[in-house]
Amino acid sequence: MSDRHPAAVIILAAGEGTRMKSATPKVLHAICGRTLVGHAIAAARATRPEHLSVVVRHQRDLVAAHIAQVDPDALIADQDEIKGTGRATECGLDVLPEGLTGTVLVTYGDVPLLTGETLQELVDRHTDSGSVVTVLTGVTDKPAGYGRIVRDADGAVAAIVEHKDATAEQLLIQEINSGIYAFDAEVLRSALARVTTENAQQEKYLTDVLEIARRDGGTVSAYRIDDWWQTEGVNDKVQLADLGRELNARVTEKWMRAGVTIVDPNSTWIDVEVTIGADTTIRPGSQLLGATTIGTGAIIGPEVTISDSEIGDGAHVRRAEVELAVVGAGAVVGPYSYLRAGTELGPKGKIGGFVETKNATIGAGAKVPHLTYCGDATIGEGANIGAGTIFANYDGVTKSHTRIGKQSFVGSSSVIVAPVTVADGAYVAAGSALVNDVGPGEIAVARGRQRNIAGWVARARAGTKTAAAAAAALEEQIIETEPGS
Ligand code: UD1
Ligand code: MG
Repeated sequence: MSDRHPAAVIILAAGEGTRMKSATPKVLHAICGRTLVGHAIAAARATRPEHLSVVVRHQRDLVAAHIAQVDPDALIADQDEIKGTGRATECGLDVLPEGLTGTVLVTYGDVPLLTGETLQELVDRHTDSGSVVTVLTGVTDKPAGYGRIVRDADGAVAAIVEHKDATAEQLLIQEINSGIYAFDAEVLRSALARVTTENAQQEKYLTDVLEIARRDGGTVSAYRIDDWWQTEGVNDKVQLADLGRELNARVTEKWMRAGVTIVDPNSTWIDVEVTIGADTTIRPGSQLLGATTIGTGAIIGPEVTISDSEIGDGAHVRRAEVELAVVGAGAVVGPYSYLRAGTELGPKGKIGGFVETKNATIGAGAKVPHLTYCGDATIGEGANIGAGTIFANYDGVTKSHTRIGKQSFVGSSSVIVAPVTVADGAYVAAGSALVNDVGPGEIAVARGRQRNIAGWVARARAGTKTAAAAAAALEEQIIETEPGS
């Protein structure tokens, strides 16, 4: 991208978005892990503007708080009760330094596929052509609702006419206004001061600036792009899904081109901030969300959801839910595992089937293979946790921690009542309910001794099939133990 930075970008996001039929402001809806306004800010920031302002009004506090979180340097501009994109732009200018000169980009908070590259290209064309206004346009055979680009006999842009104000002849024009522009700052300010609300919608139209600027003698240009998706806005939840699918297709394509194998891009969802190493394979039905990073040569899926987690090189994660977790290189997870916040699985470790972990550090090569709840625990390298072990970390009031030492072995179906420390090289017998620490080299047997009561079935279950089977088996034993047989 060129290094011509705009003086400012103004993002318009004051509209109501009634067709979303949602309590959530339109621009706070997300696709590919980023809100619509977040996408607009990311594209704007890619041009490295000196200033960025976002114009808000509808559900102002919610939107402003979100913007402050995404981009603390963004300026918030409040639109007053005067309606229209022209007024919104004026309000956006008002929070910028007085007398600002240079190029001002205006874009929308609800056009999420627009890229920084396209905005930069708009700046460059605008600058190279010496224009005072350059409008980004697209061509469609369904132009209804859009402002139409009216060109003069020489093909130069003469004006933009809104659908509701257009003549029958103008309605046939297929080149439409995307609503994204580059302006000369002074021309924009001066023209906006002269825009009125005399139109079908009684709004102050930003589009009127073009005609005024031209009348003042400036050059007005258009930059027509063929990639329709980039200028497509979200107005309802059908468009939200359409644009989400398209963005996802672009993101998955980017990773495939970078060497990631994606078996079924249609059922794979990857958020924009995720990174994936080459030669990793993503199997169908997987979602990689938030700030997730995946190493090289890993196998992810099928049916995996990973959020805000780090998966190491060569790890294998299948049919699992993973959030705020770290999975080491060459580690194995799944199937049917639930890795909750604070899980850290060491290199070549294992979290197996029907295992839930939380705030658990599991050392290199350690294994938690079957049917276990492992919460608030530190497990040393090479340790093995038997099937069905429960780390009882919560007594109803406080949560306590368990330590299992290196190369130790916890027998199946044990309950470890935290806080407990099992030293390095120790054993816990299967079926134990462990409440005390275990020293190095010891085995803890924390369960009742086995006691067999002969004749119980015959007495207590007389006449049942079980009693008959017992009698037959006993008879057989007698025959087998008879001398000489
Ligand atoms: C606008 C354009 C139209 C263009 C279309 C592209 C004008 C007059 N018309 O029409 O030529 O084809 O976009 O989508 O500019 N907004 C504010 N404050 C307002 C009004 C709107 O911030 O008072 C914001 C909205 O939040 C939205 C954007 O501006 O992000 C566009 O508003 P919208 O009402 O959708 O404009 P259109 O009538 O569709
Ligand atoms: Mg619109």
